[in-house]
Amino acid sequence: MAIKDQLNSIKEAAKKAIKEAQSMVELNDVKAKFLGKKSAFNDIMKSMKDLSKEERPVVGKETNLAKRDIQTWIDDKRQELHDLEVAKQIEEETVDVTMPGKEFHPGTTHLLTQITDEIEDVFIGMGYEVMEGPEMEIDEYNFEKLNLPKDHPARDMQDTFYINDTVLLRTHTSPVQVRTMLEKGGKEPVKIICPGKVYRRDEDDATHSHQFMQIEGLVVDKDTTMADLKGTLLVIAREMFGQNREIRLRPSYFPFTEPSVEVDVSCHNCNGAGCHICKQTGWIEVLGAGMVNNNVLEASGYDSTVYQGFAFGVGVERIAMLKYKINDIRQFYTNDLRFNKQFKS
Ligand code: DAH
Repeated sequence: MAIKDQLNSIKEAAKKAIKEAQSMVELNDVKAKFLGKKSAFNDIMKSMKDLSKEERPVVGKETNLAKRDIQTWIDDKRQELHDLEVAKQIEEETVDVTMPGKEFHPGTTHLLTQITDEIEDVFIGMGYEVMEGPEMEIDEYNFEKLNLPKDHPARDMQDTFYINDTVLLRTHTSPVQVRTMLEKGGKEPVKIICPGKVYRRDEDDATHSHQFMQIEGLVVDKDTTMADLKGTLLVIAREMFGQNREIRLRPSYFPFTEPSVEVDVSCHNCNGAGCHICKQTGWIEVLGAGMVNNNVLEASGYDSTVYQGFAFGVGVERIAMLKYKINDIRQFYTNDLRFNKQFKS
């Protein structure tokens, strides 16, 4: 029968196309071609009307059987393609447990930050407030209200980066004293420290840096004395350099304090016996301090007949260099990881 041959050739063509399909998309195209609305089977169905009554059911049945076979092959092929895809995915997503891992290098706070934090903690424990001030400061606060008028020779002690006639990069953290006292309005007691960056027009070398860090301290109250200053300095010296340390105060000069002192700490390296670090003296100079000059109190609104106070300023790099025997201040600012990593907090 011609139609039977026709059906067989359609089946053969479908079988071949299904076998060759490489993907689900291709397989769907094959299905549309052989089982869809425009398939060759439809043409056969249309020609049914020309067949005899006896032939019609036979051809109908054969056609349906052929379609069912093709559907079965397509289903099998679909399963096969799916299995292949899963196998491929498993292969691609396999974890190679022998591959070397990624190394993580956790950061650490900079040594100067560590020391600043330590000092802050000690002062917070004694009831101090931590203040901040701007690095770009006005001459009035950096100098004038600290008892350093324009022509004062002591201005030469601090070579200044001027931005214009009235604005500069602060040469010390002392202007925060002025800012705080003005803020408190001349009435409340003051008990603050202020850590921060300061700038000097210095040539950078092993002991000079045009930018460095200080911590300022200021206490103002009605009965603050030099004994309070000395006790406070002893606490901080021992906290930084060990509980066996002693301090001594030497007369000095700062325009913003009267009397002014240089503070020495007994050498932590030789316990005061004399070594290369303390230049055989047994003492190391660590900071400047004094009783707040009456002019400074008055300039910031405090009545100097009622209030008095003490102040101190300490260089953070100097403390770090002494404590860890660092011989070049530039080490703090070159971001050399080999240096920084030695001080894991
Ligand atoms: N401001 C001074 C400087 O940078 C340090 C200093 C000395 C601060 C004595 C003070 C002080 O508050 O009382 O050299």
